[in-house]
Parts: sequence; C-alpha cells; structure tokens
Amino acid sequence: MSVQKKEIKRITTHILREMKENGEKISMLTAYDFSMARILDDAGIDILLVGDSASNVMAGHETTLPITLNDMIYHASAVVRAVKRALVVVDLPFGTYQGDSKSALKAAIRIMKESGAHAVKLEGGKEVKDSVERILSAGVPVMGHLGLTPQSIYKFGTYTVRAKEDEEAQRLREDAILLESLGCFAIVLEKIPATLGKQVAQSVGIPVIGIGAGGGVDGQVLVSHDMLGINKEFRPRFLRVYLDLYDDIKTAVEHYIRDVKSNDFPSEKEQY
Ligand code: KIV
Repeated sequence: MSVQKKEIKRITTHILREMKENGEKISMLTAYDFSMARILDDAGIDILLVGDSASNVMAGHETTLPITLNDMIYHASAVVRAVKRALVVVDLPFGTYQGDSKSALKAAIRIMKESGAHAVKLEGGKEVKDSVERILSAGVPVMGHLGLTPQSIYKFGTYTVRAKEDEEAQRLREDAILLESLGCFAIVLEKIPATLGKQVAQSVGIPVIGIGAGGGVDGQVLVSHDMLGINKEFRPRFLRVYLDLYDDIKTAVEHYIRDVKSNDFPSEKEQY
C-alpha cells in the first residue's frame, strides 16, 4: 500500500492575485530566522516578509535605516530554508535602490541568488519608478510599499498616520496605480485612513496588503514580534496582540534560574 503524501501547494504571485479575485483575504507576517519561519509557515501563513524591521526587532536599532544588504540576505536565507509553502518577500534595505536603478537591480539579484527568496519589496511610488522597472525587467517580482514608509522617517519626522490630507491621499492613489501599471504583484499600505485603504484596493487589480490601513484591503500584515507580544513597548492602535510572549518567556527563564540555583535541575532523569 502506498502512503499518500500530503501535497503542499506553494503560494505564488499568481495565487495571490486569484485570492484577491475570489475575495479570500491574504495573511502576511514578518520572519527573520529559521525557527520562527518554520512555525509561521506550518501554521499556514500566505506570505512571509523578511522585513527591514529586522533592524529594529532583531538588531535593536531605532530605525530601519542601518540594516545592510548582507544582513538582509543572512535573514532571508534562514527564512527560505524553513519554508515549504509561503511566498518569501525580502525588503530592499535603505540605500540600495533610491536614486540608482542599477544598484537596485544588483541588490535585488543578490537577494534572489544568495537567499533563494521569491520576491523583493521596496518603498515609494513615482520616485522609485526606474528601480521598480529595472528590477522587473530582470524577472524579479516586486511588491510596492506606500503610506508610512519607515525608510523615509527622517523626512516625515514622525510615525503618525499618513495621507490624511487630500493632496497626499491623491498622490498615494496615483502611486498605487503607477505601481500596478509597472507590473508590481502587490502593494503594502502602511498606516493610512481605512477609507483610503479601501479605495486603493478597489482601484487596482493587484492585492493590497494593509498594516494599519483598515479592513477594506485584500490582506493584513503585522510584525510577528509585535503580534506575539515579544516587543512590549510598541502598542499602536492597529496592532492586535495574540500572545504575551515577553512575560511568558521571562517567567520560564525565572523558573529555570530558580531550578539551577536550587540544584533542582538537572534531576536524576536529566543526566547520564
Ligand atoms: O519591514 C517591515 O516589517 C515592513 C512591514 C511593516 C510591512 O515593511
């Protein structure tokens, strides 16, 4: 008797488009290492983003600006090794694509070749048009990112909600249509009014994934460390926290320390 193998259908950019067309919401989370990526993939997440938020949550920097291309490739390789089903998207780090489309292509190719990831993401609209075009011309799928774009934090000056005024909202609508026309396979919208998120999702054929962009978009993304409660300080309104991992880990470690100090660990059974 032959054993039936459970078939795992890999998520592709084509499948994501079908999900939008069928009204099936897309789930996306960040991942930066093998062990976490394996759990998230096993749970059935559709997209894993190796976000440059690794700069904050993995390396402890205040912004996403310091992380390097080599760092991103290191994180992405670990995630790719863990994943059987999810589409793996990797952020192009700050300084690799702004104002230089050749350098953008080189960075995207290094990510694809050296990590085995499936797509790249970059921030911005009209101003990064040349980079998006050049990367796409090499056959590398590109995800856009509009609204609050953390690599421009020093230009914005704050992490507050973007595109509340008509002029910025109109620019964002135009940028979304431009990114679709260039050939991006999806767009992330970060921290914008829910009504605008819904309008943008309805105005383009490609999936729009929101983070603080309301429920009218085609899917949601969160930073996994935030939704798992590892990072206690960050509690924006858009975040739903599903676990209190900071406290759970701390309690477990306190327990371990007590057991070591009291000579309770290791027991007879835990030694050779
Ligand atoms: O780097 C990141 O985690 C991101 C998400 C916030 C979308 O870009």
